[in-house]
Amino acid sequence: MRSSEKSLRAEAVALSYQSGFGNDCASEALPGALPPLQNSPQQCPYGLYAEQLSGTAFTAPRGANRRSWLYRIRPSAMHQPFQRIGNGLLVSDFDSVEAPPDQFRWDPLPLPAEPTDFVQGLVSMAGNVECGVHLYGANRSMERRVFYNADAEMLIVPQQGRLHVVTELGRLDVEPQEIVLIPRGMRFRVELPDGVARGYLCENYGAYLRLPDLGVIGSNGLANARHFEIPHAWYEDKEGDYELVAKFAGNLWSAAMDHSPLDVVAWSGNHVPYKYDLRRFNAIGSVSFDHPDPSIFLVLQAQSTTPGVDTLDFAIFPPRMLSMEHTFRPPWFHRNIASEFMGLVHGVYDAKAEGFMPGGASLHNSFTGHGPDAQTFEKASHADTTKTDRIRDTMAIMFETRLPLRPTRHALESPQLQRQYAQCWQGLKKHFSPDRK
Ligand SMILES: [Fe+2]
Repeated sequence: MRSSEKSLRAEAVALSYQSGFGNDCASEALPGALPPLQNSPQQCPYGLYAEQLSGTAFTAPRGANRRSWLYRIRPSAMHQPFQRIGNGLLVSDFDSVEAPPDQFRWDPLPLPAEPTDFVQGLVSMAGNVECGVHLYGANRSMERRVFYNADAEMLIVPQQGRLHVVTELGRLDVEPQEIVLIPRGMRFRVELPDGVARGYLCENYGAYLRLPDLGVIGSNGLANARHFEIPHAWYEDKEGDYELVAKFAGNLWSAAMDHSPLDVVAWSGNHVPYKYDLRRFNAIGSVSFDHPDPSIFLVLQAQSTTPGVDTLDFAIFPPRMLSMEHTFRPPWFHRNIASEFMGLVHGVYDAKAEGFMPGGASLHNSFTGHGPDAQTFEKASHADTTKTDRIRDTMAIMFETRLPLRPTRHALESPQLQRQYAQCWQGLKKHFSPDRK
């Protein structure tokens, strides 16, 4: 192990966080760096520059308004003009390929053969005007390269390898079965403590992800607000050749800098990055009969202007117990108006006996029929439902959208595409007989 990797691991143990969801937080890496009275004093403590980062319109209602005040060594405007760089396999125009209504499933994305960092390793799979679904595979830390996304909030779901995410507002250590959210416009770099990393990334172009209302569930359950973790202020005062990469209006752009932009010494506000451990999700389920709708597993939602209809839902299928009696316990066969992109972080998914591997993905679009494969159907149809099933060692995720998810050309032509996927349902037997009741 190289000494830099050792130091990253030591840091991973040391990081602590603020807790809560949607809070207005305050943090300073040097005592007194945060102006106590006002946002923009005539002179800031320690000779810092004050800068506001607005994540919503100034006039957004208080409950939705997001902004942070950053006290930094140099203002973020200090960079050279942007030059266009290649997008690689990152796609923003999802309209250029005809979207077939087939069921799709892919093997895991291979780890890159060439040195590839987190941004270079983005591979777009599907999307629409409200969200983009990507995979990432990387084997090199971003060192003097810092990224921001002006187009979207980013939900990152590691599947293999930890991420050490250094943002303007501080550092987050994230491992598989955790997620990290990077707000729109926030600069960050991703370091790889394990040398390689792979996972899922959803760009949310709509309203920011929020915790769902709980309705009749009551005031507790699903993801608990206090389990969301926000970094403490951390900065580096480094000069040298740095590169600022922006995703702006669908394309990647690069600008030279002569210092690190991760130089925020203190901050306050609610436009913040955060992480969440999916293993802390309080799963709720049926204790009588029938399998509930998957909305019961909703972690975060991006609401549309139509009540109850989200532009993006992030749901998980965590370890849980199934005790429903005289019930077909796995997910039923279904066709939904919503479109579903699924991934498997860990273990086995209970609706598929085989073929859906950790790191793999599936896409079932609007009104495309899908459900358990033939093997799972036969087994679950004859299972003893007087006994509880304990589903252990699993973590499947789903990005669910109200608009169809249009696959990219890469997704349709990828060597990882399982071209025989539809065959998993062809073995379902005809059981019908008018004489059998
Ligand atoms: Fe489904």
